[in-house]
Amino acid sequence: MSHKIVALPGDGIGPEIMTGALEILEQLSNDFNFEYELEIHDFGGIAIDHHGTPLPDTTLNACKNADAILLGAVGGPKWTGPNNRPEQGLLGIRKALGLFANIRPTIVTNGTSHLSPIKESRVAGTDFIIVRELTGGIYFGEPKSLSTENALDSLTYTRAEIERIARVGFELAQKRRKKLTSVDKENVLSSSKLWRNVINSISVEYPEVEVNHLLVDACAMHLITNPSQFDVIVTENLFGDILSDEASVIPGSLGLSPSASFSEQGPRLYEPIHGSAPDIANQDIANPFGMLLSVAMCLRESLEVHAAADKLETVIYQLIKEGKTTRDLNGQYHTSEIIQFIKNNL
Ligand code: NAD
Ligand code: IPM
Ligand code: MN
Repeated sequence: MSHKIVALPGDGIGPEIMTGALEILEQLSNDFNFEYELEIHDFGGIAIDHHGTPLPDTTLNACKNADAILLGAVGGPKWTGPNNRPEQGLLGIRKALGLFANIRPTIVTNGTSHLSPIKESRVAGTDFIIVRELTGGIYFGEPKSLSTENALDSLTYTRAEIERIARVGFELAQKRRKKLTSVDKENVLSSSKLWRNVINSISVEYPEVEVNHLLVDACAMHLITNPSQFDVIVTENLFGDILSDEASVIPGSLGLSPSASFSEQGPRLYEPIHGSAPDIANQDIANPFGMLLSVAMCLRESLEVHAAADKLETVIYQLIKEGKTTRDLNGQYHTSEIIQFIKNNL
């Protein structure tokens, strides 16, 4: 069976990391005997330049018809106008495809603890997943407004939205170490009071899973002082955004973190959690591992070629062990050299 994959390279370092990822995908398909059809579409700032909008209909339709979507990153200093930003395209595609669940793993157990900015003794054994709600909360709540004197954002959640993301968290925890940490700001926010109530009511369906609640500020601290305590963290959209960038540096670099987003049914989207990194774009120094680990998630979850996913991950962590990394992981190699190392080692 052939799979339809849509690639959205985007802006900044997006095209640099996507080019290598697609080369490696092709090599893996030969080695592991799977077939796919690839379409590449404009998305983000480049789509604004070419089509006047960050998410053109052609791009969205291709994504809707795909089995899986690979996304690089969008945004940059060229596109900062209030009404037509690359980032609106990203929120638009998440909403249009109903991608309510965003899975962001953090692992040092594959041999990256020596690269952590935190003492190795503290990060040892860290292996957790942040389940970030992705289509609700303050990112999408109405009303919204902005004038020179006033600004308004609305943080809204419905019981149904919280229930479905809670179930994703509980299901994952059930398959892992059976520990779910729900993160909110229940001491201040109404949305968080509802969040905590719903988590508690769903927990009855998962008696084996131990649930605890943390306020988001305390969670930010616990992630640094004792990250190995976590198994699955479930949280709302904005908290998940912030905590996952924080978590990403525990194994060494933001450039290392992959993600997968899914809906109730339909194509899944795979993207590194970092942005377009305009400060290092076009220098061939971007870390491609977050993108490549996202490809590995895609191979496992959407194409179901587990052996290819395992192989790609093994090769990446072997390179990290050998110090064959970009400079964000203390290495001295260029993006293109890393891609070549991977090709040689597959
Ligand atoms: P960023 O994630 O792009 O970069 C933050 C820092 O991390 C920078 O110093 C950057 O050089 C570094 N970094 C990021 N990815 C790296 C990689 N693969 N290898 C090495 N270093 C890496 O965040 P930012 O600078 O705050 O945002 C830049 C633009 O990206 C903004 O327009 C923002 O809206 C956008 N953004 C897009 C996405 C996305 O497309 N999913 C995610 C986050 C931010
Ligand atoms: C991410 C990004 C996006 C988000 C931005 C670019 C809209 O930071 O994917 O983490 O906040 O979700
Ligand atoms: Mn983010």
